[in-house]
Amino acid sequence: MTSIGIHDIELATTHHLLDLGTLAETTGVDPAKYRLGLGQDEFSVPAADEDIVTMGATAALALLDRNGLDGVRTLLFATESGLDHSKAAGVFVHKLLGLPPQVRVAEIKQACYGGTAAIQAAVGIVQRNPNERVLVIASDIARYALDSPGEPTQGAGAAAILIGVDPALVEIEPASGLFSADVDDFWRPNDSSTAIVDGALSISAYLDAMTGAWDDLAAHGGPAFTEIDRLVYHQPYTKMARKAQARLGEHTGVDLGDDGLVPGAIYNRRLGNAYTASLYAGVASVLDHERDLVGKRLGMFSYGSGSVSEFLTGVVQPAAASRSDHFTSVLDARVPLSVPEYRELHARELPSNVDVETPRVTEAPFRFAGLRGSARRYERR
Ligand code: CAA
Repeated sequence: MTSIGIHDIELATTHHLLDLGTLAETTGVDPAKYRLGLGQDEFSVPAADEDIVTMGATAALALLDRNGLDGVRTLLFATESGLDHSKAAGVFVHKLLGLPPQVRVAEIKQACYGGTAAIQAAVGIVQRNPNERVLVIASDIARYALDSPGEPTQGAGAAAILIGVDPALVEIEPASGLFSADVDDFWRPNDSSTAIVDGALSISAYLDAMTGAWDDLAAHGGPAFTEIDRLVYHQPYTKMARKAQARLGEHTGVDLGDDGLVPGAIYNRRLGNAYTASLYAGVASVLDHERDLVGKRLGMFSYGSGSVSEFLTGVVQPAAASRSDHFTSVLDARVPLSVPEYRELHARELPSNVDVETPRVTEAPFRFAGLRGSARRYERR
């Protein structure tokens, strides 16, 4: 059977960050609630000239610089934070990267699950024609209302993932476990820039979906729990991975405690929630921080509120041994905001019917230049 999976993965994030200690000082919340209770230290905040396109294009530029464009005929852009009801955000990326016209582009949506849906679609395309490779971009800005319980779990980030045959990083195994259910745990109406969330319901819906997807994986020939070496979970906040692992332990009768969760949380503790990119930031974090994973099996749980979820497994390939944690220096380079500066950026909404030029802030390769005639304009810096 053809081996298909993740050939390479690259992350990107925003110009700014908000330190949760700074937020705690202003709001009078015990900082331990954020650092221990949620397992978060910081979150990324986009500058006025950054969005899902600039982050996605930045991640994809580095990925394609390393791997070239050969065989890439599809770009799938997964996001919860779509910019237009009609046009796929990936079309802007297509232009910014100078991709040829012979590349199809589409956007995939199902909350945080969209990245996994895009990867599975990509695997199908490559299965049909092994000469093709698919560029998947998962890019999101997690926004909740100010002073809401979700506020400290905001964040922003993008993962660009190259799917192809004989993958250098992670071979995705054919069996996967699925679980979908119509739940009102988290959603974002078309006229709202912040999500509506029932926090307690979202946690229980996530955990129920995970055990449901696990059972389906088992029913479809997936590996036994003891044959999985590392588990990586969708991390809306990193404490959620600990809750998930505890629930899976109860469900399977194999209690792993918190074993193995630290490497997969290193980037996510600092990025915050990156919705579609969250699981793949966790996968990159594991691959970039553990040196002895080659030949080992990863279990990956993807959850998108609303809800659709999937349990995947993959076997780590030799190129993982030479990965570096260069994304740490990207996280370190972000510029901290004061709480008033963060609040001002949070409140910024662009009317779509007025021409606007955005201030020049980002130092990323691409910037969102503003609106002209209601259309979004981007620039390569
Ligand atoms: N020191 C240490 N820990 C503390 C503390 C302190 N001083 N004060 C509180 N805590 C702990 C609490 O005990 C709690 O721990 P447990 O979860 O282990 O019980 C934790 O900090 C959180 O505190 P609260 O229970 O008081 O919760 P909250 O009202 O602040 O809300 C939340 C937490 C529901 C996660 C909220 O941040 C939220 O709504 N977030 C957005 C929704 C979300 O992320 N849901 C996750 C599943 S849905 C999903 O995965 C999709 C997605 O990406 C959105």
